[in-house]
Amino acid sequence: MAKLTVNENKVCGTIEPELYGHFSEHLGRCIYEGLFVGEDSDIPNVNGMRSDVVEALKEIRVPVLRWPGGCFADEYQWRDGIGDRKKRKKMVNTHWGGVTEDNSFGTHEFMELCRQLGCKTYINGNVGSGTVQEMSEWVEYMTFGGQSPMSDLRRQNGHEEPWTVDYFGVGNENWGCGGNMTPAYYANEYRRYQTYVRHYDNAHPIKKIACGANAADYHWTDIVMKTCFEESPKEAHGFMDLLSLHYYTVPGEWSQKGAATEYSDDKWYLTMDKAYFMEELLTRHETIMDRYDPDRIVGLSVDEWGTWFDVEPGTNPGFLYQQSTVRDALVAGITLNILNKHCDRVKMANIAQMVNVLQAVILTDGDKMLKTPTWHVFNQYKHHQGGKLLESTLTDVGTEKGAGEKTPKLTESVSEKDGIITITLSNLSLSDSESTEIVFTGDQKREVTEATIVTSKDVHDHNTFDQPETVKAVAFTDYKADGRSIRLNLPAASVVALRVK
Ligand code: AHR
Repeated sequence: MAKLTVNENKVCGTIEPELYGHFSEHLGRCIYEGLFVGEDSDIPNVNGMRSDVVEALKEIRVPVLRWPGGCFADEYQWRDGIGDRKKRKKMVNTHWGGVTEDNSFGTHEFMELCRQLGCKTYINGNVGSGTVQEMSEWVEYMTFGGQSPMSDLRRQNGHEEPWTVDYFGVGNENWGCGGNMTPAYYANEYRRYQTYVRHYDNAHPIKKIACGANAADYHWTDIVMKTCFEESPKEAHGFMDLLSLHYYTVPGEWSQKGAATEYSDDKWYLTMDKAYFMEELLTRHETIMDRYDPDRIVGLSVDEWGTWFDVEPGTNPGFLYQQSTVRDALVAGITLNILNKHCDRVKMANIAQMVNVLQAVILTDGDKMLKTPTWHVFNQYKHHQGGKLLESTLTDVGTEKGAGEKTPKLTESVSEKDGIITITLSNLSLSDSESTEIVFTGDQKREVTEATIVTSKDVHDHNTFDQPETVKAVAFTDYKADGRSIRLNLPAASVVALRVK
């Protein structure tokens, strides 16, 4: 029997709510149709934002939203997205399907969406094809409260008060779509561009994010950290608050990644191995960061993560629209457990992407909307937001039969907030349920107040617009608690969450 020991007396860090962040790009039907339908739409909306989607997103407590990209960010001209919507300049979205972008969703609309969601704002600036001046003026436009050319322009466009920009990304994937730069070149550009991302509101300084590595490119992390930290004042901390990392779970070669809803057992295990690789990635990038920033002042921002499969048949290949099954639920459960356990360095993470793109939490079709299995996992895990990570250890768990043979069958994380302990577990096995005993080291008697499970009869199951609730979180009852320990039977291919008082 597997054993999970929860050490209630050892707090290992705080799980920032931002670990449960999201990413929305001008890509396919994420922004348009998915989030923004315009005031004149027949789909119920508030100031153009579709109400059904906003309500579903509020339920999982979206803490922060990243926008406008992605690759799109390094082509985005913010001035084209302000002012009278009918007169806004159009552009070609070269990265994503070559479609015409009419810029009807711009800065004001993004800020309105975040207001409705009640979440923090993460704006990604343009380094690849934009100037320092453009970036600097965008920040002035959004955040300067006094009189200036940019703040006056904002007022002319109908917004008197400055907004709060919580996070600002200085470029996106500048090793690739953001300008094909070398790490040393980018790092020097970063030092320059970030200088002009001014803190106009001293009570709320913008957190600056430097572009980090593509997955296992440890050289990028090393050179960017080195270049930003060298010959800079100690208190400047490399001029950054966070460094990003992008990693997608792609099972196999790019051309072999396969369909989202049809996969063999081997593909399942390969997907689990690839998701679990996040553990090694974080550990190794953190080790490099520790060399330059031993006090762990700079956070890691995994601001793009999720599954990447073939697009749904018949859809635009540039729109990255994919379905989401029990396999995605497991990837979400595994990844979020790993992120929680690295919360002393990881301060933000953003699933890609929020609606209708890649591992979306919501899918839409016209006026219809569904919550994916990933949405249900985010709903289970939301109680970790802002919690104290407790030391927890799993023993007597076998490894999975996946390709690398080093992926454990179970993953877990445990946190405590307001006297309630949240335990989340994922069983990766396709065939074996796992008897597990949870033991608490403290003296307090414990009782389970809520238990839920996400799984399904067939791991290929997914939600459709006709049957939107095939895979969802339901009550989990297969456990016995005696005050000191909880014995439970974790079904194969499941994500379980317990709330314990
Ligand atoms: O999320 C889709 C794309 O993946 C993003 O635009 C880019 O940053 C990454 O390569």
